Amino acid sequence: YVIGIDLGTSAVKILLVNQHGAVVQEVSKSYPLIQEKTGYSEQNPKDWVDQTVSGLLDLLKDFDGDPEDIEGISFSGQMHGLVLLDENNEVLRHAILWNDTRTTAECKRIYEVVGEKRLLSITKNHALEGFTLPKIVWVKEHEPELFSKVKTFVLPKDYLRYKLTGKLQMEYSDAAGTLLLDVSKKEWSTEICELLDIDTSLCPPLVHTYQEVGKITSEFAESTGLANSTRVFAGGADNACGAIGSGILEDGKTLCSIGTSGVVLSYEASPDKDFQGKVHYFNHGAPDAFYTMGVTLAAGYSLTWFKDVFAGDESFDDLLVDVGSVPVGSNGLVFTPYLVGERTPHADAAIRASFIGMDSSHHRKDFVRAILEGITFSLNETIDIFRQKGKQIDTVISIGGGAKNEDWLQMQADIFDADIVRLKSEQGPGMGAAMLAAYGCSWFDSLKDCANEFLKEDKRFHPNKTNVEKYKKMFAIYQDIYGQTKDIN
Ligand code: XUL
Repeated sequence: YVIGIDLGTSAVKILLVNQHGAVVQEVSKSYPLIQEKTGYSEQNPKDWVDQTVSGLLDLLKDFDGDPEDIEGISFSGQMHGLVLLDENNEVLRHAILWNDTRTTAECKRIYEVVGEKRLLSITKNHALEGFTLPKIVWVKEHEPELFSKVKTFVLPKDYLRYKLTGKLQMEYSDAAGTLLLDVSKKEWSTEICELLDIDTSLCPPLVHTYQEVGKITSEFAESTGLANSTRVFAGGADNACGAIGSGILEDGKTLCSIGTSGVVLSYEASPDKDFQGKVHYFNHGAPDAFYTMGVTLAAGYSLTWFKDVFAGDESFDDLLVDVGSVPVGSNGLVFTPYLVGERTPHADAAIRASFIGMDSSHHRKDFVRAILEGITFSLNETIDIFRQKGKQIDTVISIGGGAKNEDWLQMQADIFDADIVRLKSEQGPGMGAAMLAAYGCSWFDSLKDCANEFLKEDKRFHPNKTNVEKYKKMFAIYQDIYGQTKDIN
């Protein structure tokens, strides 16, 4: 067996997977978001560790086999979150997460000091509030005393892995989202560090996703029931792991993943195709590969927000039950999902969401369908950028919350104008993490061989040409809303 641990934004999900890729056990444990001010989004790293320990305990309690039969363990993690450690590797403050948008001024400073073009040529990405470097600059400026105690920074799943092994590293697919990595050369950019007066010694050693980085410490083994002999592999960024866990392992493969955030990502073999920073360009979890990606900040989060405000204790299934009975276009209602700002294509932390076209005849179900359409339009902006750059997108693998509802899958086919594939017992990033452990343990010669054994297509949704045309018209209206609403604040 292997274990894949997916450290998400709302919960940690732990999968126990056998040699054929079947999930034999699965546990999920949630933890809170701490939002002290508008735009702030933090978590306590201790919650990640405590909930992982509690999840592993539950998983192993119900496991019939011997813990020694669990050969390897690896990770997938929410990206960009800043965890600051002191000289004893103690956490100095709450982690500042990927969806925290307090750093607009710091992004501007980074451009002023490093230069926009230079930053793009080194990191392949623009300075966006969600990335790690602006957060480092923010802490340095706003909490100088605390910052003077910082010995190392790591990302969420790297901190969790440190608690398992006692060893600190960061790996390339997550380091790519810090804005401090030279993405093509795969090394920390001393130039950016020096320009911003950040000691390069704060950057931890870099490893590959599939690299063995240690064994379980006696203390962690005791508190969870895991065996000391279990091999620990570095793991990857959640989106890189989502790509691995969906078989996005060669040119021409595209993924749509809808969780709290939503992403559309596509495999890249080349380290330097030029998208002018319109989409993110990161190191893949697969050896020597890359991926381009657009992000919708409030994808599933838009639905969660609506449910919390308007539907009380109802489940998501109850909320979505009537979506299929509302016609394409939600009876003229259009939603833009900018509840917490937007990344792709606008890179605008200040823009806010809207419902346009409300009619006194609309019911709650019209609003729910409009939310699903708005999220999907937002993701379609990335598909549009990919196509404009000559990428062929005929088939998209859909995973996460967006793949749990057939009406939404058909909507994706109609809005993306592409075949949408749902996988059998899809597990996304958690499966990608388990696959990294399986590959690390040499169960397979390549991640592709592992994908052939572990991943199976379940169902395909074909675009309906009439709906495609209707959605094209609505998408044009959707795209205009940004320009009309961006100055509201
Ligand atoms: C990607 C991003 C999010 C997080 C969610 O750039 O910020 O998708 O990785 O965990």
